[in-house]
Amino acid sequence: MATQTIDGATIFFTDQGPGPSTGPALVLTHGFPLDLRMWDAQANELSERWRVVCPDLRGFGQSKSESPFTIESLADDLHELLSAIKATPVVLGGLSMGGYVALAYAKKYSRDLRGLVLVDTRADADTPEGKANRDKMIALVCQSGNKPIADAMLPRLLAPDAPRARPQVAKAVRSLMESCPPKTIEHALLAMRDRPDQTASLASISVPTLIIVGDTDAITPPAVAQAMHEKIPASQLAIIRGAGHMAPMEQPAQVNQALGHFMSSLP
Ligand code: MLT
Repeated sequence: MATQTIDGATIFFTDQGPGPSTGPALVLTHGFPLDLRMWDAQANELSERWRVVCPDLRGFGQSKSESPFTIESLADDLHELLSAIKATPVVLGGLSMGGYVALAYAKKYSRDLRGLVLVDTRADADTPEGKANRDKMIALVCQSGNKPIADAMLPRLLAPDAPRARPQVAKAVRSLMESCPPKTIEHALLAMRDRPDQTASLASISVPTLIIVGDTDAITPPAVAQAMHEKIPASQLAIIRGAGHMAPMEQPAQVNQALGHFMSSLP
């Protein structure tokens, strides 16, 4: 674990790997309301070959912060961190909310991007119903804390058979969600509700892009991933069998293989 002070917040991150001569760093950005531990299986295996950096975004995990943020400001934090630790240009990956941050980074900091990995995420903004649901979740977390948020989200995060087939994954995801500070959950829900639609920018992404999706992802289903694949010129799509929205935790071997192939194929 290392830290970097960015815009008044102490940002925690892991930085593992064999050294600077191994090509671009792979940066993995977590989803909501999680933290960098969701990438443990990827960081442990892939760092044998590549530099792998996993940050706790502002307010999440050990990056304690009470200040509000937007998806764009999280991308700004990330750019400042990666510049400070001399990791740019990067291969930037993000799951779901982390994918929104990766797309914001790709738009603003394309010069510091070598590749993009979009995992169980989407480019379009919230629908009116989605925004109304964010407002309900904000009221819930303000009134009752993070546990009811975890209760509401867990059934939709994992493949239908996960509680029986992979109870340890369900337990780990719940524990991550229940350790997220309620204030951060509130700020993240606001940031996601108000994020801009990035669909129009997809055609101008010029770096190699890997899109990964669980075959039973109920939040960002394969059709959403396929639509991004059709719009991003140099993209490839990997569908992970037996996974829902949390593909990297549910099926780490398949996700690691897709990431490894992608990293090896970069010029
Ligand atoms: C996530 O996994 O980060 C969330 O499901 C994203 C969202 O709620 O839009």
